[in-house]
Amino acid sequence: MIFIRGYNSFSMPILDSHTIEFFSRSPEQTRRIGMRLGSLLTAGDVICLQGNLGAGKTTFVQGLAQGWGTIDSVSSPTFVIVNQYRRANGGLIFHLDAYRLESVPEAEELDFDVMLADGALIIEWPEKLDGLIPPDRLWINLDYMADEHRQMRFNAHGKRYDILLDGIRQSMFGGA
Ligand SMILES: Nc1ncnc2c1ncn2[C@@H]1O[C@H](COP(=O)(O)OP(=O)(O)OP(=O)(O)O)[C@@H](O)[C@H]1O
Ligand SMILES: [Mg+2]
Repeated sequence: MIFIRGYNSFSMPILDSHTIEFFSRSPEQTRRIGMRLGSLLTAGDVICLQGNLGAGKTTFVQGLAQGWGTIDSVSSPTFVIVNQYRRANGGLIFHLDAYRLESVPEAEELDFDVMLADGALIIEWPEKLDGLIPPDRLWINLDYMADEHRQMRFNAHGKRYDILLDGIRQSMFGGA
């Protein structure tokens, strides 16, 4: 396993070409990592965020929406299921929290195709929607390690997401 240590103190073990993994040491750092991904997002992108309660999924989405350029504030959509964020030069982010979805029929009322035609889709608790989410996606795992310490793993499924991962590598590690 190769470890690369950059100026920004991230360390990244290279696992395989579809995966990157690193640590966040604070909510602010998690937001900054989100911003890097957000700046690369376009309509049709699917980002899944898996992690326990309080792992930092919504914190990550706050950075992501900011990096993408939203004019709206980001909050946890736990009670409304889907939030929508806009930006001045067009496009949408749909922020879905599947935690409270009770059943697959309820989830099937979500029209992913319609959302993806106009925007990017970010899903918290994606494991609750298993089988409904398009197979091509970026799957992110957030794991609690300690107080402010989180492990993040990004897994690309499909060509578009390999490209996104390359973009993140470039932006975080200078292309390493
Ligand atoms: N490195 C870190 N990254 C992200 N959040 C952190 C970190 N360290 C501490 N925290 C704290 O952990 C909490 C994460 O809350 P957040 O709402 O983002 O989690 P979540 O995964 O969306 O939870 P839920 O499943 O309840 O929606 C926040 O209070 C945040 O300040
Ligand atoms: Mg949340």
